[in-house]
Amino acid sequence: MTTVRNPALAEAGHRKLAWVRARMPVVAALRRRYAQERPLAGQRVAMSLHLEAKTAILAELLREGGAEVAVTSSNPLSTQDDVAAALAELGVAVYAWRGATADEYDAFHHQVLDLEPTLVVDDGGELTARLHGPRQSLLPTVRGGAEETTTGLHRIRALARAGRLAYPVVAVNDARMKHLFDNRYGTGQSTWEAIMRHTNLVLAGAVVVVAGYGWCGRGVAQRARGLGARVVVTEVDPVRANEAVMDGFEVLPMLEAAVRGDFFVTATGNRDVITRQHFDRMHDGAILANAGHFDVEVDVRALKAGAVATVPGRTEAVVGYRWPTGATLWLLAEGRLVNLAAGDGHPAEIMDLSFALQARSLESLLQHPLPPGVHPVDPAVDRWVAETRLEVLGIRLDQLSPDQERYLAGN
Ligand code: ADE
Repeated sequence: MTTVRNPALAEAGHRKLAWVRARMPVVAALRRRYAQERPLAGQRVAMSLHLEAKTAILAELLREGGAEVAVTSSNPLSTQDDVAAALAELGVAVYAWRGATADEYDAFHHQVLDLEPTLVVDDGGELTARLHGPRQSLLPTVRGGAEETTTGLHRIRALARAGRLAYPVVAVNDARMKHLFDNRYGTGQSTWEAIMRHTNLVLAGAVVVVAGYGWCGRGVAQRARGLGARVVVTEVDPVRANEAVMDGFEVLPMLEAAVRGDFFVTATGNRDVITRQHFDRMHDGAILANAGHFDVEVDVRALKAGAVATVPGRTEAVVGYRWPTGATLWLLAEGRLVNLAAGDGHPAEIMDLSFALQARSLESLLQHPLPPGVHPVDPAVDRWVAETRLEVLGIRLDQLSPDQERYLAGN
């Protein structure tokens, strides 16, 4: 059983899959082993991740490892219908289409859970939330889960703090080979790729305001600078603000930055970062985009309610809101995470690392069962991903001598 928009799109989807499959060598190394060893034989894996080509390669890998797999998307706008159709043809149960309504989005998650999963892969905690709410009856067979993103871990850690988390969850996001690359270089590149694709505007000389200087915000700020923008960072954390200053960025409160920005990108993981008081100060033509997981960072509701008119933009992902000040403010992708709702997500080489960590973390959960709670990725797994990537790049390391080992051990 699958629910995809149009099975006839599969051919285009297969071409996207072929392109990224050839560029995900760490996952390919796992696939070769999985074909022999079938480490996930007998497992049922429920996945809620942005359903684009790299995610399909993860689903394919888990299937190759012997699991039965059901997939939906972790955002109503991030499904690529051609990829969904191709994945369904490969024998994965797919429940997703781009532009799902809130009800459809919820129903798709329930259909994935009907698999009665033994393992769960989340990007944003959607399956975990339902398994600890309306689908609690399924908990006894769940052996564990893995979470892809910062926001999902916030939600899952809240469950753990309340003493309610019923199974172990591996915090894939926190692995070094994940957040140092995916959050920083992945978000940095894919966010600007999506913004530039839909606006066709120049960044050189423009003022870019980046809200949040976590790993994602740093990547967005760095890449904007690389494209010649003058970058302003807003922060609430004094240490991060100091880092932004020493990295050479101007740091301002959003109220002051609002006047200056040509482009605004939110990456805070929090709500109400850009609100009515900021819209009031923005100049005509300002571009608003969100790179955080949920569509709560720009107050889209206030923007819609306060606008005197809406104006269609140059693509379907660009909508102008004429504000009472006379300025037209252009919102991208309805304030949803712009790199996936209006782009293709992170580059293949980056998702190769993140998804290799996902698969290895599921294997770990089976090999070394853990108690309920949030657990780090096994450092040996993180290291394996790092070493495998270096091998692919043909980069060799120095080795510690025995004297150096002793010195580091304090002897
Ligand atoms: N592709 C699949 N999942 C993704 C994610 N979480 N971020 C960016 N690109 C992705």
